[in-house]
Formats: sequence, structure tokens, C-alpha cells
Amino acid sequence: MRVLLVGSGGREHALAWKISRSPLVEKLWITPGNPGTAQVGENLDLAVDDLDGIVGFARAQGVGLVVVGPEDPLVQGLADRCADAGIPCFGPRADAAELEGSKAFCKEVMIRHRVPTATYRVFSDLNPAISYLQGGARYPLVVKASGLAAGKGVVICEDARQARDAAKAMLEDGAHGAAGRTIVVEDFLDGPEASAFALTDSRTFVPLESCQDHKQLGEGGTGPNTGGMGAVSPNPMMGARTADAVERQVILPTIHGMNHEGRRFQGILFAGLKLTPAGPKVLEYNVRFGDPECQVLMLRLKSDLVPLLLACAEGDLDGCEAPEWDTRPAITVILASQGYPGKYEKGIPIHGLDALETGDDLQVFHAGTALQGDQLVTNGGRVLAVTALGETLLEARDRAYAAVDAIEFEGKTFRRDIGEAALETLRSYQ
Ligand code: GLY
Repeated sequence: MRVLLVGSGGREHALAWKISRSPLVEKLWITPGNPGTAQVGENLDLAVDDLDGIVGFARAQGVGLVVVGPEDPLVQGLADRCADAGIPCFGPRADAAELEGSKAFCKEVMIRHRVPTATYRVFSDLNPAISYLQGGARYPLVVKASGLAAGKGVVICEDARQARDAAKAMLEDGAHGAAGRTIVVEDFLDGPEASAFALTDSRTFVPLESCQDHKQLGEGGTGPNTGGMGAVSPNPMMGARTADAVERQVILPTIHGMNHEGRRFQGILFAGLKLTPAGPKVLEYNVRFGDPECQVLMLRLKSDLVPLLLACAEGDLDGCEAPEWDTRPAITVILASQGYPGKYEKGIPIHGLDALETGDDLQVFHAGTALQGDQLVTNGGRVLAVTALGETLLEARDRAYAAVDAIEFEGKTFRRDIGEAALETLRSYQ
């Protein structure tokens, strides 16, 4: 089969690495890809929002499966365009991708279908928002841009002044552009975060292994929110009872609810959760693999990914074998450019990668990298995802950080405490 993967981040390198190992795949293209994906397939120079170009290429080349990595092309309708052209596509159509494209819509769906989530208000004008924030609101609370903001449109506010500033920045000053023209203001939920994933063809679903992301830039969960600075899998806070509650209270009613609303969801449903004392509650839905959660999941997935992706696209997930997982834990540590998630320089030489011995237990997935001649250089905020398996989480962590220390580039920024919260949890069980 010929497969076309859309995207260029660490998530896409991990997907490309896994897809390229499938005996079903005769040819893999990645568009636009990165220097890492070029090692496992052929990169194209079609941008992720060039829907005409992507569908035209897929049709001309007899592509049997389009896999969409990031959310933007899904929200723009790439899956619909593929369906019109008769090409199976992994990822939901635009009407279902709105679960991620509009946080206001996502909250409405959760309320309508009784999915546990924080109480909220939606505002498109500053004055009523300020009246609420300075009146009845309880603190801390969270101000979110409703639209797509690459994980950066969320502000946790301790008091009314902070909340007013965040609302003004989004609604009046254009922070996050069109994505911030509507905001969601919701109660702050206390508890650890968890990432839950389910593959679905809209009739049935297959849960994937749990993960824990580390969203904030600084150690100990401090500093600004990022796309994610590291992840572990499994998440030791997601025991069997919690996982069961997530399936029954979150995944199932959402998939059924979307069917009921006439927006069949096919692809991967990613629930960003808070594990509160009252049970799991949904912070947000995403309609694609998490980044960097995908990196740890792909290292742990032992079975072939391609039949699962194809079954989601073609509606026969029921006939698919359940995925087989490596029972060993995995960890990924993001190496970022100095300044990320704000402004950062590009074009800084990266050294030390070639000398690393990578294999089934260690992979360095490229995200924001480029080649200048033969020299690998930085080309984005998140640069590399150093991903390792180990017999224990400690062993996986040590393997990952040894590689982190062997890679050098000026301004290399990372958290030294990825996996620490999971290790704390494991220690508390002993
Ligand atoms: N790691 C969080 C996300 O992919 O949105």
C-alpha cells in the first residue's frame, strides 16, 4: 500500500518511523516532513494547508491511505476532500474536527452528552467578560482562546486582574488572532493531568495506552504552557478503575454523542484530562495524536499501526486485532530552542546526534530541524524528542537523559524532571 502522511513535527516523525516498519507499506511519503522523516520515507514539499495539492498527489499516485498528523488540515476539511476523492483518510472530517477547532463547541458537546468537565462561560465581547471576571467569578480560573492556538491559548488566572488582562489580550488586542475572538472561561480543576487516546471508526473504539504530558516549560510545572516538553507512558495515575471510568464516562458518550449530532467521528480522539478527587474530567479534546505523547506510544506499540489506521478510515475497526504493547515504560524529553514558546532563533547547528546508538529502545525524533548542506540545524521551537524505553521508568529516564546530554546545540532548553511525577506516584505505591 502507498501511504501519505501529512505533517512535519516530532509526532509525524514517530508516526512515519512506525508506519515505515509495516509490511503492508510499499511506499511512504511525508509532506512536508523533516530531516528525520526523510530517513524513513520520501518528503514532499506540499504544505499541510495545500489541500488541493495533497489530494491531487494522493490521487495521482494511487495512495491507499492518507494519515493526517496535525489538527489544522483536519479542521480545514482535508478528510472531507479525501472522502470526495475516494481516498481513505485517517482523521475526522471538518464537522467532527470542530471538537478541537472550537473549545466553545467542545464544551457544548460535553454538556449535552453529560461528559464530566469544568463549568464554563463563553464570551465574544470584552465588557460582559470583564463584568463576569470582576463579579461572580471564583479564582483561580482558566481563560482559553476558543480556536486553534497551538497549545498556547490557555491562561491560568489567580485573580481578576490577571483574568481581565488575558481576556483583553485575546478579545481586544488580537493575541492568537481569530482563535481568540471567542474565549472560554472555565473553573480551574485541581489534580494531575492525564492524556487518554482512543482510535475509533465511530461505531467502536480501541483505547490506547495512557500517557502523562508535561505541558509547562519549567521544571516542577512552572512557567508558560507549551505544546508539551516531555511525556511518559504508561501514566501510573491511570489505574484500571480510572481507565474504565474514562472509557465509560468520557470516550463512549462523546463518540455516541457526535453520532447523535450527525458528526461521525473517525480517527483518534484525544482527551486531555484532570484526575480530580471527583473522578476524571475533560479539559479539552483533540482530534489527532498528542505531541509528544505519540512519540512514547509509537515506541511502545509492538503491533502494526497501519491496519488500525486504515480500519478507522474504512469503518471496520471491529474486525481489527487489538494492539499489542510493550509492557516496558517509555519516556520522551523535548529539546527546545532558547526562547520557546516565545521568539527563538533558527539555523543553530546541532551536534552529537550521529554518534548516538539508536534502535528499538532509543529513538531521537526530529521536530523543528532542517539541513543546511550536510549540517543539521534548528528550525523550530521544539527541535528534537529524545525517546527511550526501559525495564523500569528509571532506566528509560536514564537512557533518555544520557542521549539528551550527548546532543548539543546553542540554547538547548529542556526539563530535567520529565517522569519525576510518575516516579513519585510509583514510589507512593511501594
Ligand atoms: N501534548 C499535548 C498536545 O498534543 O496537545
